[in-house]
Amino acid sequence: MKYLKKSLIGKEPYYSKEISSGIILNANESAFETPKEIIELVKKELDKVDLRRYPDTDNTLIRESIANAYGLDITNVTIGVGSDQLLDCIFKSLIDDEHIVSCNPTFSMYKEYASFTNGKFIDIDFKDDINFEFDTEKIIEAIKKYNPKLVIICSPNNPTGSAIERSNLEKIIIAANEINSVVLLDEAYSEFHETNYDLIKKYDNLFVLKTFSKAYALAGIRLGYMIACKDLIDTINVVKPPYNMSRLSSIIASIAIKNKNLYDENIKKIINLKNELFDDLQKLGLKPVKSYSNFIFLKLNDKIFDYLIENKIYIRRLKYKNEFWHRITVGTKEENDILIAKLKDSIM
Ligand SMILES: Cc1ncc(COP(=O)(O)O)c(C=O)c1O
Repeated sequence: MKYLKKSLIGKEPYYSKEISSGIILNANESAFETPKEIIELVKKELDKVDLRRYPDTDNTLIRESIANAYGLDITNVTIGVGSDQLLDCIFKSLIDDEHIVSCNPTFSMYKEYASFTNGKFIDIDFKDDINFEFDTEKIIEAIKKYNPKLVIICSPNNPTGSAIERSNLEKIIIAANEINSVVLLDEAYSEFHETNYDLIKKYDNLFVLKTFSKAYALAGIRLGYMIACKDLIDTINVVKPPYNMSRLSSIIASIAIKNKNLYDENIKKIINLKNELFDDLQKLGLKPVKSYSNFIFLKLNDKIFDYLIENKIYIRRLKYKNEFWHRITVGTKEENDILIAKLKDSIM
């Protein structure tokens, strides 16, 4: 990469071969297809779309649909190509070379985006490696000590599945507010547990990040959104590219959020399947972490991971404290049963 700029030397290009067959449990997508009723509504709308024209750069249709779903004003919402694009925008608009307080382990892309703007991470461990409970006191200590520009809380947290209690979240937001620091609450998986989005009405230093990629079974349309007070939303919109969202994606997401009750049954099923999978993993003598999301975190030995790949079962492997841990997305009943059978084979 002879033309790569100096500050990026040492970074590798991001390539990841698409896996299109087998049992895919590595990206926390929904176990179930988008509901048929949503697809039928989308088909009806498609006839009317004028693809010749650029999309509305203000993303009015989808922002209005989201604002209505949450009882907020449209000025409290902005849209990104996946919540990933909004993460990029947060770092671009907030961070030059300041500190960022976050937890370890958490979603790896925070560090990737922060590295483009020289952000310096202070990683706070969870209370232990059994339940991975958030260590609120240590997070607040770090806020006081390092004066970070940004504090990131992912709840439920990817990859551990643990969730922060609302009262502790508020303590962190208040501590951050006292030093003029912003809190990013990443709720990519909140539909599987609970949302604290309403705290944006109380605190003007809180961003809440959400996505259609997980519970809404729409990872393919790449649409994420951010909820915050108008001033924080404007901050993001300073760096957000114009025309960033396609008309098609906006229409699909808008139909999905207007009909969000159509997802309730699948979300309940995924939570039940997660609980079953957790019990089955425990019965195999494994130690899964209690999860409030649609995935489960645990340690497996390397031979097991390789054996699963040989059998076309794909889970996510992550390095944490110099050991390999694994994150398994909850699949359908059939997929989970095959996974458990193969795990049994490889353990026996
Ligand atoms: C915690 C968290 N935040 C954000 C994202 C990005 O999601 P998307 O860009 O699909 O909205 C992910 C994806 O896995 C995630 O796990």
